[in-house]
Amino acid sequence: MTTAFEKQIVVAITGASGAVYALRLIQTLLAAGRNAHVVVSGAARQVFQQELETGLPSRTGECPEWMEVIHTVTEGAGNGLWKFRPMTGLPGVTPGKVFQYGSSDFHSSIASGSSLTGGMVICPCSMGTLSAIATGASTNLIHRAADVHLKERRPLILVPRETPLGIIQLENMVAVSRAGATVLPAMPGLYHQPKCLGDLADFLVARICDHLKIPHSLSSRWGQAVES
Ligand SMILES: Cc1cc2nc3c(=O)[nH]c(=O)nc-3n(C[C@H](O)[C@H](O)[C@H](O)COP(=O)(O)O)c2cc1C
Repeated sequence: MTTAFEKQIVVAITGASGAVYALRLIQTLLAAGRNAHVVVSGAARQVFQQELETGLPSRTGECPEWMEVIHTVTEGAGNGLWKFRPMTGLPGVTPGKVFQYGSSDFHSSIASGSSLTGGMVICPCSMGTLSAIATGASTNLIHRAADVHLKERRPLILVPRETPLGIIQLENMVAVSRAGATVLPAMPGLYHQPKCLGDLADFLVARICDHLKIPHSLSSRWGQAVES
């Protein structure tokens, strides 16, 4: 039985490469009946334009416009690069909704520990945001919400992407890991024999959902048959 607060998942999107992961993650959360509470950094909007040739809705509050972007990109109608297997809804599950927050809106619910959630994912996570969390800087809503999840001992998953990694970045990963976060790098495996780029993204999103204990139908598990 999932409680009302466990259904609320914070998804922060920062300016590292891998914009498509964020879209597929939000789509998967909604299909599982979770509400996605989304915050996007200014740099992330630049990356979306660069990688997916799409802008993002800016409306705060309930923001169904996210669904249009998700459908356009995941069905290959954007720049045509990304094609995903159809998202199969979970039986008996009412799809969740997207709520968006401004990246400087410290009055918003997710800036406070009194607002209960089932966890937070920063996907993708830039080295800049990683650093701000490791040092407790809290200069924008993404840093603040991450800080809240750590201090309240709630799940916080960081999906960093950079290569190679310098000592500062490695030490920041150790620091957030010690503080209770899960560092889940954007490193899709290849052993599941991906058939398309979407399969690579699904590998990663599946691992994120597994860590949040959110059911999904994204990929088969090791030891089980790979779907064709
Ligand atoms: C197209 C593009 C790709 C980028 N890729 C990365 C990346 O993979 N990893 C990273 O740490 N920063 C990357 N950056 C740099 C970050 O966006 C930059 O450091 C920014 O200050 C991060 O701010 P944010 O954490 O508030 O989003 C990229 C920037 C652009 C415009």
